[in-house]
Amino acid sequence: MSFYELAEKRYSTRKFSDRPVSQEQLEMVLEAGRLAPTAANLYPVRIFVIKSEENLEKIRSLTKNVFNAPVVLLVCHDRDKSWKATNFNDDFDSGVMDASIVTTFMMMEATDLSINSLWARGFNSEEIARAFDLPSNYVLDDILILGYPAEDDQPSPMHSQIIEFNHFITEI
Ligand SMILES: Cc1cc2nc3c(=O)[nH]c(=O)nc-3n(C[C@H](O)[C@H](O)[C@H](O)COP(=O)(O)O)c2cc1C
Repeated sequence: MSFYELAEKRYSTRKFSDRPVSQEQLEMVLEAGRLAPTAANLYPVRIFVIKSEENLEKIRSLTKNVFNAPVVLLVCHDRDKSWKATNFNDDFDSGVMDASIVTTFMMMEATDLSINSLWARGFNSEEIARAFDLPSNYVLDDILILGYPAEDDQPSPMHSQIIEFNHFITEI
């Protein structure tokens, strides 16, 4: 499958089946994240894997945006390790960007394995960090949920509302 076909295959899933994600497949997804580039190669990204019933229930009580996924990845960056653009007199911290590219690599690897996913940011990050006792220097940037879709799962109407090419690209 070409990368374009893979990109076309992906959609956000909000209704999962009971079929578990095997440890081997989960490790392939995490490994793809490990291959992602990060600013200055500092790799400030840290991932917490939630798949125990107890912690799945806990995260579901904190945000509805993990739906009934059997695997929930908390994607964080260490604010003490992310690259800062201080030498350019710029107020830029690469943490969120690094977490995003790691999340993207994992999401696309999952798609390649026919595991569906959803990228979530609809939550209170401090509340979740507190509930799971994450180190205070870690910022929870996003959540990637993984699993096999329910039989009647369908892409939401938003999936096909794609920006027109001419609005997306401006040649300058
Ligand atoms: C940064 C980001 C945050 C998102 N947060 C949520 C979320 O909290 N809950 C949710 O249901 N979908 C969330 N989504 C999924 C988007 O709504 C979805 O990607 C978009 O509607 C396009 O649909 P598609 O992924 O099926 O192509 C998020 C996506 C991104 C990239």
